[in-house]
Amino acid sequence: MLSLEDNERLTRVGAGTPMGELMRRYWIPAAFSDAIAKPDSSPQRVRLMGESLVLFRDSGGRIGLLEERCPHRTASLFYGRNEQGGLRCVYHGLKFDVEGNCVDAPCVPQVGDVQLRNIKNQLKTRSYPCIERGEMVWTYMGPPELKPVFPDLEWTKLPKAQRYATRHVQECNYLQGIEGGFDATHLTFLHGGDTEPSRRIVPTHYEVLPTDFGFVVGTGREPGNGTIMWNVNVMLMPFHKIISSVPHAAHVWAPIDDENTMLYSIDFHPDRALTEDDLTRSKEGRGIHTENVAGTDHAIRNRANDYLIDRDLQASGASYTGMKGLGTQDCAIQESMGPIADRSAEHLLACDAAIVKIRRLMLQTLKDHATGKPLPGMNPRSYRVRSMRCEAPSGTPFAETMISRVRIDSEAAE
Ligand code: FES
Ligand SMILES: [Fe+2]
Repeated sequence: MLSLEDNERLTRVGAGTPMGELMRRYWIPAAFSDAIAKPDSSPQRVRLMGESLVLFRDSGGRIGLLEERCPHRTASLFYGRNEQGGLRCVYHGLKFDVEGNCVDAPCVPQVGDVQLRNIKNQLKTRSYPCIERGEMVWTYMGPPELKPVFPDLEWTKLPKAQRYATRHVQECNYLQGIEGGFDATHLTFLHGGDTEPSRRIVPTHYEVLPTDFGFVVGTGREPGNGTIMWNVNVMLMPFHKIISSVPHAAHVWAPIDDENTMLYSIDFHPDRALTEDDLTRSKEGRGIHTENVAGTDHAIRNRANDYLIDRDLQASGASYTGMKGLGTQDCAIQESMGPIADRSAEHLLACDAAIVKIRRLMLQTLKDHATGKPLPGMNPRSYRVRSMRCEAPSGTPFAETMISRVRIDSEAAE
């Protein structure tokens, strides 16, 4: 269990909170690029880290992410006109460029140049810098002077044909997602029937090692033949997981606010295009992706319809949950813990050893951030890692050498 105080510290992401400020030191995904595919296309609402924002691509192709509220009289810029190098509020016509500068104020024509300049200065609105990587728009919401270089996330650097990405809203705090992502035991149960046979053995070893990118989580299963099978997953600060599957996969749990999360799910192959089989499996919601209501970020199988649980299928034993797909199963169970899980009410068991260590590490990172110590993941090259599986003779400790084995060489990441 966790104290209420620590639970709050780890889960709240608004501006000014410890975790909110820590996450703002990293690049955060805001949208898929195709949401604002063309210059001067329709602006989009983005809710991120508890802030309501509006995203647009200006006439020159530059991307702006502005506070949604117009600084004049707080109307929504979502309804704005995206025209000639800026977004114009339709209430009284103020216009803002991608950096939040007020570049036109036609509602105050009778004042002199100096006065007009002053008005424009007062009306500068909040904006966050954006960058496009891997067909996604990423933003940086932290102190400008601390903006890091975009990290070498392998899946963002691959050609389009080697990647498949979706996203959907999870109605719960981001930490339930991350903890679910690194809770290896649930593969044997929650996903029972949907995972490969080796994952059906209950793990007996749980190791977590801090690294310069976040941490490595090792889960050991012993099939009884004198070996230990390690499943090694990497967590890249502050909310990335690279999954040791074939093709490779990744999750990003980007907080919408304290009680909602945009879960990005990505399949990728470093060396080849994804095959029709790979894509069909993902599009049908059999892997980590969910099938969404067309044109939305909301899953067809959701809390309101109990994720279309099939009790007969569950009773038959063919599926542990009776729910279709790993993505739906994870979402169902993580949302079932409530908008923000009350970790003070838990009774942790030996199989939660990795979860306990992860929480400790994250609390320690919050402390380090508060005292100005270096943060993991600030060197972009530290993200050149892959999750992996390996075998070792039983009794071999999960050593530090594991960390070097998850690193990929620079060519693979280019
Ligand atoms: S509220 Fe936006 S221009 Fe007046
Ligand atoms: Fe899962």
